[in-house]
Amino acid sequence: MTMPDKMNAVPQHVAIIMDGNGRWAHTRMLPRYVGHREGVKAVRRVVEACRNRGIRVLTLFAFSSENWRRPSDEVGWLMDLFIRTLKKEVETLHRNGVRIRFIGDRSAFPADLREQITQAEAMTVHNRGLNLVVAANYGGHWDITQACRALAQRVAAGDVAPGDITAEMIGGQISLSDLPEPDLFIRTGGEQRISNFLLWQLAYTELYFTEILWPAFDEKALDDALQSYASRQRRFGRTGEQVEQLKGA
Ligand code: IPE
Ligand code: IPE
Ligand code: MG
Repeated sequence: MTMPDKMNAVPQHVAIIMDGNGRWAHTRMLPRYVGHREGVKAVRRVVEACRNRGIRVLTLFAFSSENWRRPSDEVGWLMDLFIRTLKKEVETLHRNGVRIRFIGDRSAFPADLREQITQAEAMTVHNRGLNLVVAANYGGHWDITQACRALAQRVAAGDVAPGDITAEMIGGQISLSDLPEPDLFIRTGGEQRISNFLLWQLAYTELYFTEILWPAFDEKALDDALQSYASRQRRFGRTGEQVEQLKGA
């Protein structure tokens, strides 16, 4: 593995769209749910690899607000897989100091899944290792909408004038506001789109796309993404020369 040459070249927050489970299964003439099951193994590998590399936050897109449009049997398998995986993995994650949390509208989930989510979050709330964020029934539009609603409540209550609303106030209501913004976004499976993932939070994130299908994503694939990240200059609107000067200062 080629390590990034500077400490700050390791991203604090990596956000992943885990795509390609269905195609992985299809090319092996297997049913799609086998692809999802293999995808869980890739999650295990990547969580472990992120812990070992000192990454602070890993956000995984597990189910989008649009994925309800899939055939009902596939949605059913996915719900079952979430419940079984949580039941099976939470203890180990807890022992490893991982804090788990979920973002998205959980009210649409079956009661037993909501229960597992609440328990996993409560059990790991004090852990100080990797922050593992699972985006489930998540959509960037939903997130921005719920932030607007929260601010509109404050306006209606007379706490804030509409003209005083700032980007920071919106950012403060958006999911993950207490964590560093994603530094590196990875999408597996070859598509080059955001698919309503973290829209607000990705404003300055470095984007990385790979053809690798999610069930085949491994440590080496993660390291390739980390290496690409480490080779980039993040300018945040400044010139390259300014960035070099700031680094030297
Ligand atoms: C991603 O893999 C997993 C979920 C959306 C839950 P897909 O199921 O989208 O796999 P492809 O894109 O059909 O290959
Ligand atoms: C995005 O993948 C959502 C998740 C990985 C959970 P999709 O496979 O649903 O995205 P589209 O539909 O191809 O954009
Ligand atoms: Mg897909």
